[in-house]
Amino acid sequence: KQSPLTDFRAAIRTIPDYPKPGILFRDITTLLADPIAFRAAVDALVAPYADQRIRHVAGIEARGFILGGALAHQLTAGFVPIRKKGKLPHETIRVSYDLEYGTDEIELHKDAIKPGERVLLTDDLIATGGTATGAIKLLRELGAEIVAACFVIDLPDLGGAQRIRDLGVDVRTLVS
Ligand code: PRP
Ligand code: HPA
Repeated sequence: KQSPLTDFRAAIRTIPDYPKPGILFRDITTLLADPIAFRAAVDALVAPYADQRIRHVAGIEARGFILGGALAHQLTAGFVPIRKKGKLPHETIRVSYDLEYGTDEIELHKDAIKPGERVLLTDDLIATGGTATGAIKLLRELGAEIVAACFVIDLPDLGGAQRIRDLGVDVRTLVS
């Protein structure tokens, strides 16, 4: 659902042929730079979870950090980073996930979340869902209760949101 007052679609910029020919890159830097659109997006993303006793917002590197910090502040929750491998300083758990060509790995600090803690997962965009699926595996390995996963943008043709729902996680997005 979209806020009637803010046209999120208009606040997102599309860059043709980035990072490769034929790709339409959905760029949220324009939304983030717009004072009204940024607040409206944060408000719209947190609205369903205000009374859901969210303990942590987990954000996926890199753009999920920007949104996740704002969501956590708004919910009076803590923020937990899910990072590309080799970036977190303490003991981690790690999962590999599929990219268009090849795989990459993301990590979570082992002590970031305790069993049963209620977590909201966030990122700027869900495409194939490979990254978010990996993040869900990590969070569940620590015993997190994933209340939902929220994204500004869904690319529905790539099926990621459905893949996440098939894992039993509620998905919320602002723009398709
Ligand atoms: C983008 C995006 C998501 C992911 C979505 O990040 O911010 O994290 O890809 O794709 P998927 O649903 O197919 O997994 P990217 O890999 O470009 O990393 P970056 O944020 O570090 O640039
Ligand atoms: N924008 C940002 N991240 C992405 C995109 C996009 O269009 N496609 C896959 N990851």
